[in-house]
Amino acid sequence: MNSHILLEAREFEERESAGIPEETRPVFHLTPKVGWMNDPNGFSQYKGQYHLFYQYYPYQKKWGPMHWGHAVSEDLLKWKYLPAALAPDTEPDAGGCFSGSAVTLDDGRHLLMYTGVIKLNDIQEDIFFQSQCVAVGDGIDYEKYPGNPVIEGKDISDGASKYDFRDPKIWREPDGTFRCVCVTCPPDQKYENRRGRVVWFRSDDGFKWEYIGVLAENDGTLGTMWECPDFFELDGKHILLLSPQDLIENNKYYSGNITVWMSGTFDRETGKYTVEKEQLADYGIDFYATQTLLAEDGRRIMIGWMQNWDSITFTRRDLRWSSQMTLPRELSFKDGKLIQKPVRELEAHRANPLIIRDNIISNKTEIEGVRGRLLDITIEIKPVFESSYRKFEMRFAEDGETYTSLVYRPNENTLEFDRSFSQTRRAVVNDKKFKVANRRGNLKIRLILDKFSCEAFINDGEQTMSNVILTDMKADRISFSAHGGLLLSIEKYDLVFE
Ligand code: FRU
Repeated sequence: MNSHILLEAREFEERESAGIPEETRPVFHLTPKVGWMNDPNGFSQYKGQYHLFYQYYPYQKKWGPMHWGHAVSEDLLKWKYLPAALAPDTEPDAGGCFSGSAVTLDDGRHLLMYTGVIKLNDIQEDIFFQSQCVAVGDGIDYEKYPGNPVIEGKDISDGASKYDFRDPKIWREPDGTFRCVCVTCPPDQKYENRRGRVVWFRSDDGFKWEYIGVLAENDGTLGTMWECPDFFELDGKHILLLSPQDLIENNKYYSGNITVWMSGTFDRETGKYTVEKEQLADYGIDFYATQTLLAEDGRRIMIGWMQNWDSITFTRRDLRWSSQMTLPRELSFKDGKLIQKPVRELEAHRANPLIIRDNIISNKTEIEGVRGRLLDITIEIKPVFESSYRKFEMRFAEDGETYTSLVYRPNENTLEFDRSFSQTRRAVVNDKKFKVANRRGNLKIRLILDKFSCEAFINDGEQTMSNVILTDMKADRISFSAHGGLLLSIEKYDLVFE
């Protein structure tokens, strides 16, 4: 039986979304049906479709008591909305249904595992009591388990904060048993003093859980609290994805909230995870709170929130939705690097190929047929002679004074993204610069443009950069320039969706 709170949300989103013209949404990136969205949740394959839920507040374009919005897709690109799946309507989640994940039970039902929150203090908005809950359903309607919460902070023998204990990522082991990882921190820690931890649990049925232990812990060098963990095996390594909060800028990471991957070895007998390497998962402004699924065809696919708590004011008032998800990305692990590639389904939408090899570029150049805002474009640059150029710039979504740029400086080996001139009216961070993996002077970028975003996959996906732009669609020109000559190759496709 659906509660009146959920039914109201469903009626509201149905009515309000009917008035949102399709053209005001991106073409192949998911936006909320109406209102606010943050993290991807419950990313799973169920009854032959991909399901993606999301942190959702339909009533306003700002964060509020969390619901779960819901969409399905055949190809991870075109999403169809289903009615909101969860609302804050039971005692353990009266303050909101925070992030979580999904698996299929043996009896064929879909199990959602999420964080139930109870708001403790109206003045200090961020104080919530958090515990883990489950709901079971058929892919449309979900019944919350009467035994909720299924895991509480007091179940953690190492101690856990009542206020920071969230974001369960559930999976099934080959023997059919269940595991989940969550984040928490020691009980006495608050605010900037918190040191996030990933803790994990096991269960035979998905309802009754036992604590196993701490899987990874912040030694004080990786922000404060951690959020949205995910843990899986990939090409012989164990990968831990997480989103640490409140970083202080250093040589390795940007300040604010970031997402990192760790790779390491995992001893199944002892449950000990030994981290060998750690790196920023995306170098753009708008990326956070990733979640992966293991597709039936064996692919590990990751999706993230293409926004960040530090950039939520980067919006346009005329749009009725707030935030998008990233393009789903296929992951692999090669030579110590987590490689991300746009899902291969995108290739079916390529049209009007234009291929140019080794064009010499120096002054600002536009190339006939290279323009557009729905594009899959790969560029490769190389020096004519060793160190024959000092700077390369690609401008896109360009129209006179308006443009967004990517600038590569071979002497520093840095790539800089800048959307300061993209028509934004907000003085948020508009610029990010980072070192690319060491290939002096040679660089390959695959840039995927949807109406309101640009995602760069650098050197075959060794590094990525996800950014929102809100530039008017009329700005669709592209230009290239270099200080000193270089050779530019281009492979460009328009992306066409029926
Ligand atoms: C991450 C996060 C999660 C939490 C959710 C609340 O962006 O803060 O930790 O579950 O958002 O909406």
